[in-house]
Amino acid sequence: MSVTIKSEAEIELMRESGRLLSIMHEELHKALKPGMSTLDIDRLGEKIIRDFGCIPNFKNYNGYPASICVSVNDEVVHGIPSKHRILQEGDIVSLDAGLIYKGYHSDAARTWGIGEISKEAKRLIDVTRESFFEGMKFVKEGNHLHDISAAIQNYVESHGYSVVRDLVGHGIGTHLHEDPQIPNYKRRGRGLKLMAGMTLAIEPMVNEGGYEVEWLDDDWTVVTADGSLSAHYENTVLVTADGFELLTLPGYN
Ligand code: MF3
Ligand code: CO
Repeated sequence: MSVTIKSEAEIELMRESGRLLSIMHEELHKALKPGMSTLDIDRLGEKIIRDFGCIPNFKNYNGYPASICVSVNDEVVHGIPSKHRILQEGDIVSLDAGLIYKGYHSDAARTWGIGEISKEAKRLIDVTRESFFEGMKFVKEGNHLHDISAAIQNYVESHGYSVVRDLVGHGIGTHLHEDPQIPNYKRRGRGLKLMAGMTLAIEPMVNEGGYEVEWLDDDWTVVTADGSLSAHYENTVLVTADGFELLTLPGYN
């Protein structure tokens, strides 16, 4: 599948898709508390999405069994919600979700602390979010994709952390995953030239320790190989002539 440029009418639908997803994330953040199961989060998120009249795009995607990926502590991404997994004070939890509004996908992830968390965990969450915004400094028509990747990697590594390499960001639109792939680390060359109207899901996944990851036997849950903490931050981003618009963080623009 090739890279698509969205028309103004499509961008309007992507904006609404992203706006609704941002509201869902705010609602989930408010609901988080110790004692909650990761399945409670999935049920609440799916209800909010369906109450908007939208479709949770993760559900049944390649067989993924839930609407919200809930990844706790050393889980990097794609944690499967379970009624047996109870959130404890001090945990960090990454929530990754998407929805379809009138055929248009949005995708965003946030990492939150449960109650009081350690200074180290808070710093990991902050650096992960900040690395996304470092990447954003390079999003603009005429710039190149790998400029974004390099900015994310440099920022993360300058704080002593590492970026996950086995998973990448992606284009998004009428499909959850479109071209191009968007690594969070340097690759050869400058990569694709950005054009206004591209919509991209940019999503640094940052480990406190090494970048290596493993898959659990459920074939979904990705964990850090060394057991260190991991955080994730993602927005659906529109490339414009002079910069960008964060479709899943509308207050920012
Ligand atoms: N948010 C993930 C991504 O950015 C998608 C999750 S895969 C799913 O690629 F199967 F859980 F949907
Ligand atoms: Co994504």
